[in-house]
Amino acid sequence: MSAVTIEEKLSALLLAHQKESLSGETVSREMGVTRSAVWKAVDHLRRQGWEIDSASNRGYCLTKTPDLLTTPVVEHFLAEKRPAPVLCFPELDSTITQGQRLVLEGVEDRAVILAERQTMGAGRMGRSFLSPGGVGIYLSYLLAPRCGGEKLSLLTSCAGLAVCGAIAACTGLSPRIKWPNDIILEGKKVCGILTRLVSDGEDGSIGWAIIGIGINVAQERFPEELRDKAISVRMAGGSVLRAELAAELVRQLDSIFDAGGWQEGDPAILADLRRLSCTLGQRVVVSAPQGSRQGEAVDIAPDGSLLVRGASAQA
Ligand code: BTN
Repeated sequence: MSAVTIEEKLSALLLAHQKESLSGETVSREMGVTRSAVWKAVDHLRRQGWEIDSASNRGYCLTKTPDLLTTPVVEHFLAEKRPAPVLCFPELDSTITQGQRLVLEGVEDRAVILAERQTMGAGRMGRSFLSPGGVGIYLSYLLAPRCGGEKLSLLTSCAGLAVCGAIAACTGLSPRIKWPNDIILEGKKVCGILTRLVSDGEDGSIGWAIIGIGINVAQERFPEELRDKAISVRMAGGSVLRAELAAELVRQLDSIFDAGGWQEGDPAILADLRRLSCTLGQRVVVSAPQGSRQGEAVDIAPDGSLLVRGASAQA
C-alpha cells in the first residue's frame, strides 16, 4: 500500500472540517508539516479543482466538496472502514485490466478499483466503453467467489441490483435492469456491467470475478452515435457527487455479496431481480450457434438466467 501524501492528508482534514476555517498553524500541527508545505499542498489541491478559501487571518476553509474520485473524497463518503481497500487512479487503461494485474500480484478479496477516466474502457462483445474524465464512475469490484462459472449471470445481476439501489438511494430515481447487464433510466442505458472471470486451476471453479461497472453520472450530452441509446444520471434529473454514488455502490455491493445467499439464488434476490427487470414480459431474441430465435421473457431462474417461452425460429 502506498504512503499517504500531504495532499491526501490535507484533503481528509478539510473534508472532516468542511465550511469551518482552520488556521495555517492548526493545519500544520495536525499534519505534522511546515506551514509552507501546507500552503504548497493547498495550491496543488486548488489546481485539481478544490474550492479552498484562505482569507487573511481566517485560515483555510473548504467551501464545497469537490466532484473527484480520489481516495480522501471516496473515503469521506464511505465513512466506515471496510476490510479491503478502494484504490483510486486518475487514469487507467481499464479497471478490469488493472484488476487482472492485481489478482496476479495478490490482492484482497473485495478490493475496489476506481478510475477517474479510462483510455481503453471495455464493453461486452468486444465493444469499447466510452470513459471520459470528470463525468463517470468506472469501477471494478474484485470478488473471490469460489463457485462454478455457471453462476456468471447471477453475479452480474446482483451487481445490477447494487447499481439500481445506489442510484435510487442517492437520487430518488428508479432505474431498471435490462437483463443481464444494462441499467436503464427513461428507456436508455445509464450503466453497463461486464464481469470477467479468472478461473482457478483445473477444476474450472472461479478464482476471481472482476465485476466492471461503468455509470454515466454527469454527462450533459453524448456523441451523436450514442444519443438515442445513452443517458446520464444528471440528464434523468438526478444530482449527486460521483464519490458519493461510488461509495453507496460499494456499500451495496459489499452488502449483497457479504450476505452469501446470492450463490443459491436467494428468494429475496430473485424477487428484487424480477421487480426491477424491464425485460420480463418483453419479446426477446435468443442468439445461439444454431441461429436466433424470438420468444417472450417470462422469468428469471435461480441461477440468474432468463427463461424465454415459445422461442420460435426467426424469419
Ligand atoms: C457494456 O455495457 O458493454 C459493459 C460496460 C462495462 C464498462 C465498465 S467501466 C469499468 C470497467 N472497466 C472496463 O473497461 N469496463 C468496465
